[in-house]
Amino acid sequence: MGKAKIYLLLCWLTSQTLAGYAQKFNYKEELVPVYTLPEVLKMQNGKPVKTKKDWETKRRPEIMSLFQEHVFGQTMHVPKKLRHQVTSVDKAALGGLATRKEITIFLTDDSAQKLNLLVYVPNRRKEPVPMFMGLNFGGNQTVHPDPDISINKNWTRFSNKPGFNKDGTAHEGSRGVYASRWQLKAILSKGYGLATAYHGDLQLDRRDATNLPQNFYSWYNQSRQIEPGKNQWGTIGIWAWGLSRMLDYLEQDADVDARRVAVIGHSRLGKAAVWAGAQDQRFALVVSNNSGEGGAAIARRKFGETVQEITQAAPHWFGPNFRKYANKEDELPVDFHQLFALVAPRPLYVASSSEDLWADPKGEYLAAYHAGDAYKLYKLETLCSSAPPAIGEPVEAGVIGYHNRPGQHEITRYDWDLYLKFADQHLKPTQVAKR
Ligand code: GCU
Repeated sequence: MGKAKIYLLLCWLTSQTLAGYAQKFNYKEELVPVYTLPEVLKMQNGKPVKTKKDWETKRRPEIMSLFQEHVFGQTMHVPKKLRHQVTSVDKAALGGLATRKEITIFLTDDSAQKLNLLVYVPNRRKEPVPMFMGLNFGGNQTVHPDPDISINKNWTRFSNKPGFNKDGTAHEGSRGVYASRWQLKAILSKGYGLATAYHGDLQLDRRDATNLPQNFYSWYNQSRQIEPGKNQWGTIGIWAWGLSRMLDYLEQDADVDARRVAVIGHSRLGKAAVWAGAQDQRFALVVSNNSGEGGAAIARRKFGETVQEITQAAPHWFGPNFRKYANKEDELPVDFHQLFALVAPRPLYVASSSEDLWADPKGEYLAAYHAGDAYKLYKLETLCSSAPPAIGEPVEAGVIGYHNRPGQHEITRYDWDLYLKFADQHLKPTQVAKR
């Protein structure tokens, strides 16, 4: 081959690679393809949904099963209420500000797998308190430096990070390393409690988790005689299920008003929080913090992370069918505005961060905007503009809130202040009683 031909071939190869790259990680609004969203208020058979009754009895269950079939996999059922044991109570925690409890929830019949729930309730309370509840990334001891929180013994993804050993397990130095993500004092001083657990107590966040000796997924399938090859749940499904089991416990805790529990999660744990809130209508408020693809973001926009990326990087998060929609988002029978629609008419707060383009802030806003169709059936006000608000300018309409915080993929004091303000408006006992 002559030099000129080799040069041309190299030019062509480079252009193909760049085009492929640009297509894979699109961060340009003008490259977002034209798409048509599946309608919230239209049945699969084309019939319009006009009443709350049709929504609640037909379309809502239909969307729910579409998400199970095509995205998260089938949610398994709890055969009976799980056993739990309160292992410690300190009524003078945090210098007297709060009561701290630790509760073991036994996930498996043989008690081999357990979830360690950490609960704080403010001591200045006259009645059972409303709560924020979410899964954490590194173990309960990471959410606050309180020296009496039990250190989680499970593997984490934080090998050699401050507070963690080489094998990924935590040591004393991990106390409070993620405290800024939880803002416990601010939560308690506003009169709310906090309940949290390590997501890996439910299922480790590893694609090889099902090959490990102790894993909930395999135990559940075997003990319930679920045949492999069925549309089994992915890890997000298990995490979401776990959030509901945590709520089962809160329903039995006299210090807590379980009718006023906000489920919250950041990033992958935000996806789990939204899926939990969508399925379990006992959650009174749902907060998605930077949950992005597979959570808040419209998949059809192909901006930032895509179905292709997420199902390649973390296939274990979803049911087996989701990956079929890689580069075929238009064929997905649902999109993520419909996940938020499942939350209606309950309050919903969606947050992005301006530098978190991977999560597609505009796609996250649009999902909240289009979910409005379900809220309108309840005569609730909804976000009025399809154009997202400016960075740092929170918006609220009816029971839907949104902001795009300046900064990176995180959950910070800025976010919490807005969640607490939103909860103050929508989690009042009188409002919850009305719903
Ligand atoms: C990755 C992943 C995201 C996820 C995030 C997280 O970036 O691609 O989908 O939300 O991790 O959980 O931190």
